[in-house]
Amino acid sequence: SVLRRSSGSAAASSSRRCFSSAPAPERKVAILGAAGGIGQPLSLLMKLNPLVSSLALYDIAGTPGVAADVSHINTRSEVKGYAAEEQLGQALEGSDVVIIPAGVPRKPGMTRDDLFKINAGIVKSLCEAIAKYCPNALVNMISNPVNSTVPIAAEVFKNKGVYDEKKLFGVTTLDVVRAKTFYAGKAKVNVADVNVPVIGGHAGITILPLFSQATPKANLSDEEIQALTKRTQDGGTEVVEAKAGKGSATLSMAYAGAIFADACLKGLNGVPDVVECSFVQSTVTELPFFASKVRLGKNGVEEVLGLGPLSDYEKQGLEALKPELKSSIEKGITFVRGN
Ligand code: NAD
Ligand code: LMR
Repeated sequence: SVLRRSSGSAAASSSRRCFSSAPAPERKVAILGAAGGIGQPLSLLMKLNPLVSSLALYDIAGTPGVAADVSHINTRSEVKGYAAEEQLGQALEGSDVVIIPAGVPRKPGMTRDDLFKINAGIVKSLCEAIAKYCPNALVNMISNPVNSTVPIAAEVFKNKGVYDEKKLFGVTTLDVVRAKTFYAGKAKVNVADVNVPVIGGHAGITILPLFSQATPKANLSDEEIQALTKRTQDGGTEVVEAKAGKGSATLSMAYAGAIFADACLKGLNGVPDVVECSFVQSTVTELPFFASKVRLGKNGVEEVLGLGPLSDYEKQGLEALKPELKSSIEKGITFVRGN
């Protein structure tokens, strides 16, 4: 038994060696808005990700402190901070993935669309720089209203002749994170085992969790499903109200953003079967952009997956969300075309 134990552990350690000796490719990630409420914990989480070799932290305020702080962590990536607009090009150059949490967050009583006035311009100018300095990067759009900022990004990239629909993602992972947490609590199943697709968009009723497809299966009543759906749709507002004027979700968003960026990196690196929900250019419905499960690969979106079977309640939710989502998408497109 001693022998077996030692040969077992030798095998384990040699397989560990094999695994770690295959070097992960060099990957540069840039975070725009890195010193903000989301940006700081997201910078931390991306610094912990062994798939990242170079981490560029850009913000118009507060970058040097965040970059110096994060750079002392003894993990693979080399961290550089970029603090002024003249440095944005350097921050972006060579990036494989650009994550954008730049812009103002909600206060109680506001909708995400109330952020459009300020954030649309911020996103537009950041995307112009992406088009110039790293047109091949995967863009992970966090800035709200995502239902409009993703179409804004697409229009900017089209204007610059660099649009690739496979490389533009609205980050809706926080909706999935919430749906998983709330479902696990209600269904009394292990949260680590839970999967729930969330489709549509990222604001109010445009967020449509598909609890009929949730696994592990649980026997929840219609009322329970409706309450879970509403809580997922209002998850952002729950945090905005709890923070009482001090912003919106930052820590759970950083977690969600890190999960999504990690999935993008895995896809780029050729890991098979990487699937996450995301708001992307889509033909799954008649709307030009729509969140659904997406398979990620070496070029970004490898396949936009269909919605699967919906319950009657979800079918109604899908029809109900379309007008709002359509008008938010059009607002983003008009912002760029009319400017
Ligand atoms: P915050 O105000 O704490 O941080 C925003 C950061 O962006 C600040 O550091 C600011 O200096 C920076 N910034 C502003 N203009 C910039 C520019 N032109 N270039 C670079 N950086 C710039 O806000 P936050 O809480 O981090 O939220 C950021 C955004 O993310 C908001 O729009 C919020 O609504 C959105 N958000 C989205 C989700 C989602 O699920 N997609 C979740 C939470 C928050
Ligand atoms: C969220 O869902 O938490 C974000 O979109 C921020 C917000 O304004 O709710």
